[in-house]
Amino acid sequence: MRADSPEFLTATQASYDAIAEAYAAGFPDSLAGRPLERALLTAFVDLVRAPGASARPPVADIGSGPGYVAARLHGLGLPVFGVDVSPRMVALARRAHPELRFHVGSMTALDLPDETLGGIVALYSIIHVPDDHLPTVFAEFHRVLLPGAPVLLGFQSGDEDGHLRLTERFGSPISLDYYWRTPDTVATALTKAGLRIHARVLREPEGEEKHPRAFLLAHRPGPAGG
Ligand SMILES: C[S@@+](CC[C@H](N)C(=O)[O-])C[C@H]1O[C@@H](n2cnc3c(N)ncnc32)[C@H](O)[C@@H]1O
Repeated sequence: MRADSPEFLTATQASYDAIAEAYAAGFPDSLAGRPLERALLTAFVDLVRAPGASARPPVADIGSGPGYVAARLHGLGLPVFGVDVSPRMVALARRAHPELRFHVGSMTALDLPDETLGGIVALYSIIHVPDDHLPTVFAEFHRVLLPGAPVLLGFQSGDEDGHLRLTERFGSPISLDYYWRTPDTVATALTKAGLRIHARVLREPEGEEKHPRAFLLAHRPGPAGG
């Protein structure tokens, strides 16, 4: 983490470093009981594989946590790597999925060249980005995506935007901000960054979940996606 990193990023990193083991043990593969999320990932894979595309540029799982989303994309045949702000999470993901690459990095300043990714998946990671930094994140997504390449976002949602700060989780002291947002709020920010909305999905809370889950599929306009 750079010395001049914003405070929210250092707090997010330190918080996930503190709870990484417990989080990975508590959510070894949240996709297992979530057919809708799995279907959306399959749709994402089909969108990445644009008709006629012969090159296979990699896709990134951003905010990859324990790495099971990247592993699923790999299992569906995509070249994929993970990026996460927490070095501890990255270490756990590497240990669980030694066949895949995981890097420490932040979605606010991706260490990737322009127009190199075939797609981005970011499930439940923009929830830790404050509103005033969301335009930077989506500008980064636009910059690194190839024209036509898709992005799949998942996030906690509701009738209005909201925020809370957790100071304890899994018995560890943390300082972690959570933002929930309406699909419209996030779709507007994506559109302002130059990305085009393709689909919005909202599912009701299940089990212990307190908020509905929103999923947005968008793409960088260009030859493959139009
Ligand atoms: C709630 S977990 C979700 C993990 C995984 N995507 C999943 O669906 O289970 C959020 C993850 O995003 C990471 N994260 C939060 N802010 C980030 C940022 N600015 N850049 C990269 N990763 C970030 C955290 O370290 C954490 O591993």
